[in-house]
Amino acid sequence: MKVIVCKDYAEMSAKAADIVAAQVTLKPNCVLGLATGSTPEGMYACLVKKYEAGELDFSAVRSVNLDEYYPITPDNDQSYRYFMNYHLFDHVNIDKANTNVPDGQAKDGAAEGARYEALIASLGGIDLQILGIGQNGHIGFNEPGEKLYPYTHLTDLTPSTIKANSRFFASEDDVPKQALSMGMGSILNARKIVIMASGAAKHDAIVKMLSGVMTTQTPATFLACHADVTLICDEAAYNG
Ligand code: F6R
Repeated sequence: MKVIVCKDYAEMSAKAADIVAAQVTLKPNCVLGLATGSTPEGMYACLVKKYEAGELDFSAVRSVNLDEYYPITPDNDQSYRYFMNYHLFDHVNIDKANTNVPDGQAKDGAAEGARYEALIASLGGIDLQILGIGQNGHIGFNEPGEKLYPYTHLTDLTPSTIKANSRFFASEDDVPKQALSMGMGSILNARKIVIMASGAAKHDAIVKMLSGVMTTQTPATFLACHADVTLICDEAAYNG
């Protein structure tokens, strides 16, 4: 894994945006795998700035998001569809019809997982997957446990993730208890992966991820299998 240590959140965001911009420039109709959460917010802001400066054209870009709470409606301001519109899609010339987020209103979670995998395949796979990392080492909502799942699936959130994500909700009780998430295979099939981490709270997860030992108890350790992964983190995440 290639590691880029930045001095702070702003530098991490700018570096990650540079990589996304390079991908869009090299392949204007690329498929971007996108993440939500606090970590990539600054990166999306940098991409909007580049677009406004006339440096980027998203008109042919396709996107697939990693995950979505379940159940949730797209107009709920905590949904990941809402997040993506708010932070990126509403501010650039991407065609929203080409943007995809798992359907938090799907009746059948398993069928939605199968539909999402077929969709990714029909787009020709993911060119660049952006990831954040949970304090517990999750990627997407592939949570630590005895088992990991290869493809998009409905999953229970762990108490630690519910607690970490409660900062966005009125109370911990309001956090959905399930999510639809790409699986480990959906992620590892991406041609290139960038994983971002900011802040000392992510230090332990980063240390485990870089240890070279793979365990389902720290899903991010499976990124060691992939030939083209770059960790972009700040000093606080790297040094603790
Ligand atoms: C979000 C996602 C999650 C987050 C992770 C870190 O789409 O898949 O795995 O990347 O929970 O979240 P933040 O960035 O809020 O610390």
